[in-house]
Amino acid sequence: MLMEQASDGIHTYDMQGNILDVNFSLCEMLGYSREELLLLNIRDLVSAEELARFPIRFDDLGAGRKIISERRLRRKDGTFTPVEISGNILGDGVLQAIVRDVSERKRAEEAIRRAHDELERRVEERTAELARTSEELRAEIIERKRIEETLRKNEEARNELLRQLGAAQEQERWRIARELHDQMGQRLSALMLGLKSLTISSGQQPAVEQLGQLIEITNQLVEGVHTLAWELRPLVLDDLGLITALRTYLDEWANRAKIPVGFFDQGLADRLPADIETTLYRVVQESLTNILKHADAKGVSVILEQRENNVSLIIEDDGKGFDVPNVWCAPLKDRGLGLLGMRERVMLGGGSLNVESTPGVGTTIFVRFALAK
Ligand SMILES: Nc1ncnc2c1ncn2[C@@H]1O[C@H](COP(=O)(O)OP(=O)(O)O)[C@@H](O)[C@H]1O
Ligand SMILES: [Mg+2]
Repeated sequence: MLMEQASDGIHTYDMQGNILDVNFSLCEMLGYSREELLLLNIRDLVSAEELARFPIRFDDLGAGRKIISERRLRRKDGTFTPVEISGNILGDGVLQAIVRDVSERKRAEEAIRRAHDELERRVEERTAELARTSEELRAEIIERKRIEETLRKNEEARNELLRQLGAAQEQERWRIARELHDQMGQRLSALMLGLKSLTISSGQQPAVEQLGQLIEITNQLVEGVHTLAWELRPLVLDDLGLITALRTYLDEWANRAKIPVGFFDQGLADRLPADIETTLYRVVQESLTNILKHADAKGVSVILEQRENNVSLIIEDDGKGFDVPNVWCAPLKDRGLGLLGMRERVMLGGGSLNVESTPGVGTTIFVRFALAK
């Protein structure tokens, strides 16, 4: 009989639900023998509660409608099996139901649902973790900003201090130079005049000789005081401006060093801001000291130029050159301006200083200031 070969459970029943026939698969599915099942009504295989909620639709089946439903059938041992039931009429008040055991499918669905839930849970967990991490990052960024701000403020305070130190130093130099020039200079001149008139009025030879020596010493003193005042701070820088001061300084330097210096200036305003004039002057001084000390140059040129609001200073020698990065990385141990000190000073004044040097060819120092409009 075809019914017996089917893997689905099959049973037939009448319009009252009395079971008329069953196949072997259904017996296996529900754990009853055939004889036991033939004594049951199909309502016995469904829980009362389910029956109340989903009654068996005998009318529709009787009217020839095919009905597919999901139910849970009670096995003989009291456990329930999920099934899919397809019911239809065979004719003559006989109904047939084909029962498919869907517990495997339900289990698979359940497993998928659980996997899905698990995935969802992990996504949630991960999202929370990310939120935590991003919160931590945000806190760290705020902390860093705070540190940066502190560093920036410290740096500003340090620069301001350096600027004030530099200004105070120049001021003090100016005071001493002025003092040397005005007080010492005048008194030395008076001394000189006195000595000279003594020489004329005194006729005695030994006294004249001694006076001559005193005059010589006084001369040297005058010269020394003059040079000292000059080196401290050339008053001409304040009185007559950068170009005159530089020209005088460079002439003197060329004489002393026996190295020719070309000085070119172009487009310069009558006076620049005092601190910039001082800085440029000091840069020239230090650069020429370096050339004398280190370069072994045959010629030097100094170019000072202004184009609109940009002032540039170029000091070029044809000496032996040096390894610039090496010097930039060296510690700021020895004072005096030095290259590092020069650059620091220029930067504090809002300018930039660059050094280019090629061994065997020479060294060029570039300084640039943008003047405030
Ligand atoms: N014009 C130059 N030609 C050759 N070498 C130079 C020149 N200027 C600087 N240097 C090199 O750079 C070094 C650093 O110069 P600087 O900072 O002024 O320190 P210092 O003059 O006290 O040695 C010098 O020791 C020298 O080796
Ligand atoms: Mg030096």
